[in-house]
Amino acid sequence: MAGTSVESAARKPVVAIMIGMAGSGKTTLMQRLHADLEAASSAFYSINLDPAVRNLAYEPDIDVRETVDYKGVMKQYQLGPNGGILTALNLFATKFDQVLSLVERRVASETPPAHVLIDTPGQIEIFTWSASGAVITEALAASLPTVIVYVIDTPRSARPVTFMSNMLYACSILYKFRLPLVLVFNKTDVLPADFATEWMADCEAFQAALDGEKAYIGSLSRSMALMLDEFYSQLRAVHVSALTGDGVPELLDALQTCAHEYQESYAVDL
Ligand code: GTP
Repeated sequence: MAGTSVESAARKPVVAIMIGMAGSGKTTLMQRLHADLEAASSAFYSINLDPAVRNLAYEPDIDVRETVDYKGVMKQYQLGPNGGILTALNLFATKFDQVLSLVERRVASETPPAHVLIDTPGQIEIFTWSASGAVITEALAASLPTVIVYVIDTPRSARPVTFMSNMLYACSILYKFRLPLVLVFNKTDVLPADFATEWMADCEAFQAALDGEKAYIGSLSRSMALMLDEFYSQLRAVHVSALTGDGVPELLDALQTCAHEYQESYAVDL
């Protein structure tokens, strides 16, 4: 029953998996969410899945670095940095049932978190195109309402062709994970993301912005924009500055709404 599903989802925390290109601001956003949720005395749980991050400005409840040492993995299996990170995450994924038990125990506690926040490795493909990324995401989504948060570096997406490239990546993530997706246009303190809202809502405005692109890539982008219309129509996008905290309440709302709508449309009773 859809009604029952929505009600049961409303009592469950929403898992937010932060995915984005290197440098888009995933870790800064995690830090910001930690600070704001702590300040609001809102219970949450957090997991760091980046084995190679040096300094975290927040304290996760579970940290992959405490289980696997990616430099040791590199040495042991004679791997380069990316191979080391990938293998470390694979090793961690084999124990993910234990992680899930810890999360579920916390969810069943007297102070259940409203959000479970997950940071992923800097190199996006290590999570999005690895077996471990799929194993971890599927395990979480089978247990709790799960949303993919795709973090975008707004200033670096201001050119129509780079914007298109980022949107195609977001679309491929939707295909890969088949979970609700929230786009976060980050770094709006540097450049407001109004251009993105306009381009997503109005295909002609995007086509007009492409006017300077005369080459093949310009005409390809025009065709792609038509194709992406359907993708945009189902998407939730928020404008955020992880640095200043602008847009964070809207992001938290979007996570809840997105997870609950998904539960409703698929009538999943978790
Ligand atoms: P990886 O470590 O490669 O995974 O990058 P990441 O996606 O975690 O990005 P990170 O949080 O490390 O941020 C990258 C850079 O962008 C840092 O210098 C941040 O200070 C900066 N940054 C992140 N969010 C914002 C923002 O909202 N505004 C501004 N101005 N800078 C930001």
